[in-house]
Amino acid sequence: MKKTLLILAAVLCTVCVTAQPKLQRDNIDELLKALTLEEKATLLVGGGWGSMAIGSMTASSERLVPGAAGTTRPISRLGIPMTVVADGPAGLRINPTRQGTDMTFYCTGFPVGTVMASTWNLPLVEKLTTAMGNEVKEYGVDVLLAPGQNLHRNPLCGRNFEYFSEDPLLSGKTSAAYVRGVQSNGVGVSIKHFAANSQEVNRLQNDSRINVRALRELYLKGFEIAVKEADPWTVMSSYNRLNGAFTQQRRDLLTTVLRDEWGFGGIVMTDWGNKEGTVDAVNAGNDLMEPGVDNEIERIVAGVKDGRISQEQLDLNVRRMLEYIVRTPRFQGYKFSNKPDLQAHAKLVREATPEGLVLLENNGVLPLKEVKKVALYGTGSYDFIAGGTGSGNVNKAYVRNLAEGFKANGIDVDADIQRWYEQYIPFKKTDLKNNAIGTDILLGNPVLPEMEISRGFIEKKAAETDFAVLTISRNAGEGADRRAADGDWTLTGQERQMLQTLADVYHAAGKKLVVVLNIGGVIETASWKQIPDAILLAWTPGQEGGLAVADVLCGEAYPSGKLPMTFPVSYLDIPSSYNFPFNYRGAGRDRNRTAVKDVDYTNYAEGIWVGYRYFATAGKPVSYPFGYGLGYTTFAYGKPVVKVDKSGKVTATVTVTNTGSAAGKEVVEVYVTAPDGGLVKPVYELKGFVKTKELKPGASETVTVTIDPYTLASFNEATSAWETAAGNYTVHFGASAADIRCTAAFKLAKPQSWPVHKVLLPAEPVKEIVVK
Ligand code: BGC
Repeated sequence: MKKTLLILAAVLCTVCVTAQPKLQRDNIDELLKALTLEEKATLLVGGGWGSMAIGSMTASSERLVPGAAGTTRPISRLGIPMTVVADGPAGLRINPTRQGTDMTFYCTGFPVGTVMASTWNLPLVEKLTTAMGNEVKEYGVDVLLAPGQNLHRNPLCGRNFEYFSEDPLLSGKTSAAYVRGVQSNGVGVSIKHFAANSQEVNRLQNDSRINVRALRELYLKGFEIAVKEADPWTVMSSYNRLNGAFTQQRRDLLTTVLRDEWGFGGIVMTDWGNKEGTVDAVNAGNDLMEPGVDNEIERIVAGVKDGRISQEQLDLNVRRMLEYIVRTPRFQGYKFSNKPDLQAHAKLVREATPEGLVLLENNGVLPLKEVKKVALYGTGSYDFIAGGTGSGNVNKAYVRNLAEGFKANGIDVDADIQRWYEQYIPFKKTDLKNNAIGTDILLGNPVLPEMEISRGFIEKKAAETDFAVLTISRNAGEGADRRAADGDWTLTGQERQMLQTLADVYHAAGKKLVVVLNIGGVIETASWKQIPDAILLAWTPGQEGGLAVADVLCGEAYPSGKLPMTFPVSYLDIPSSYNFPFNYRGAGRDRNRTAVKDVDYTNYAEGIWVGYRYFATAGKPVSYPFGYGLGYTTFAYGKPVVKVDKSGKVTATVTVTNTGSAAGKEVVEVYVTAPDGGLVKPVYELKGFVKTKELKPGASETVTVTIDPYTLASFNEATSAWETAAGNYTVHFGASAADIRCTAAFKLAKPQSWPVHKVLLPAEPVKEIVVK
């Protein structure tokens, strides 16, 4: 008996020692008690470089996702699973093939961020990203590292194609729609790169020096809108410094502003690197170090042991990680199929893309009528660029080109020209690959120099074809900014010559020339835009690009995109061009050298004068204004009605009528001029917008935009408050920032203000240019 009791006691004791809680939705307090210090530190550090490396995993490792950017680490004894995070933003980025299986894992190449913003159609963006989020979930990924929503401070930032706009409201609203769509699938996003990551040159070290007003009104505003409106699961802190300190180590940014002021409830993860100040990052409220390196775990453990990290801070970050983990499909044991409906998504992308294409010029040639055969010039016509390079490059199954697009629309493509290009393109690609330097050719499609084509050949072909299309291509991406040089910002001599020759020859034959811009960012257009008969800005609109462009040119679909940024006359017209890397090539890795302007630090001396805020206020001519875009029809705006209620909420209404002879959709842009209230302000700023539904000729729609008083506020550095001035306001209803169709006035009787923390200040105020 005694012996039996002893055995029983021993068994019970073992159970007591080994009984571990397993993570559940509602036992996070218990888990916090069960986790050791090392385990807690482990949860704050990702699975490591190459944790998802190619090849090392086979199809049978079904919980893993080869090609994903990273993971969080599991703690198996407590039932805490690993979770998987993968890039974005133009679709999910994972490896398309795996060892040991013939199955493929391609993802849809969606329109890039700039195209999404060019639609000005938030429900459409949400629909696209709902499909994108479905791929995230069905391929077993928990968080999409997207959207990218840094502001287009300067058109030459190499990653602008991933980002939305030069305007924080358009950027924030588009981002919020994007987030809602992805997250409606029960997976998360990571809005990035927080914050002021406006250039690629020396991106790991560069210090963005910005006065607080510009920082709050422009560079933080889009994030603020997305956080408040869409509740992203995660935020990615950027690589760069902001006013002296790394963003990922700034408590004032990641806790005071993001959480205390905006109410963010998710986790913050670093961008992909290993910076020394891990302890500072933890204390800042940066919960997850990605991709994660073992020495970061050691640093956290040491920091807690020597008191630099408090137990409360550690537990807070770990709690947030656990709260994140229990939301994930992986934690919930979701059985992903690895078979999203790629065909349905391709169809959706083809239908949606025309809404992001911007018709810049049209002398009546578009949509094309009674044409049978096209002469298709430019490498992009056959090797269409779907998206930019770098981590934003999606492994899609195919990219549709213009030749396919025209054929799908029943138009013959001249076979001789096609054959020439199809021989030239692979040859030139190999040549480029063999001579590639640095990141120029990283993960994606490089731009090929055009081949020389003689006038005699063009003349011969002009006689055999009904019209010509010239596609001009540019590409850019992570790791390098674009260059204010020929072949990037401006056309090459060869492109100019080809454009002129094509125009001369086709015009002499009584035929037309259409230019398609297959580009990721703004280029110079003022010097040549009068040469062709039409210009369609296709951007880099995803895998169905060639079909969607041809659909639009042939009138199967109509373009209804508008520019989310300004196209200036000249690069040096842009205020930030004086404080942006100028054709800089080099990594800037030598930390001991004397700081180099625009490389080691960048003064945002233009302050709030970014994009149309500058051009419209200074009255400076532009090539194409912010918000500009033609359609195949015209719209008239009726008499606007603007009302303001007691709380200061403004309701702006106008009726838009299709006055042309084709169907179309109109984007109504609502700009507001505010009384100065003691601050210098832009002549007007975008405060709301809406896109009509499809309107047939003669049809009308009454659209309404509401604007709350906080949205009308400007930031006053002296009082550290958002302030909405009392006085007379003007609402401008615009078809672009330079095409105001009607205005209406309202008055706010009382000023309102929203004080915020006096944080994020530069060491010295940045000396700003004066515009007004
Ligand atoms: C990029 C991020 C990306 C991450 C993971 C970084 O270099 O800046 O945008 O999400 O890599 O691939």
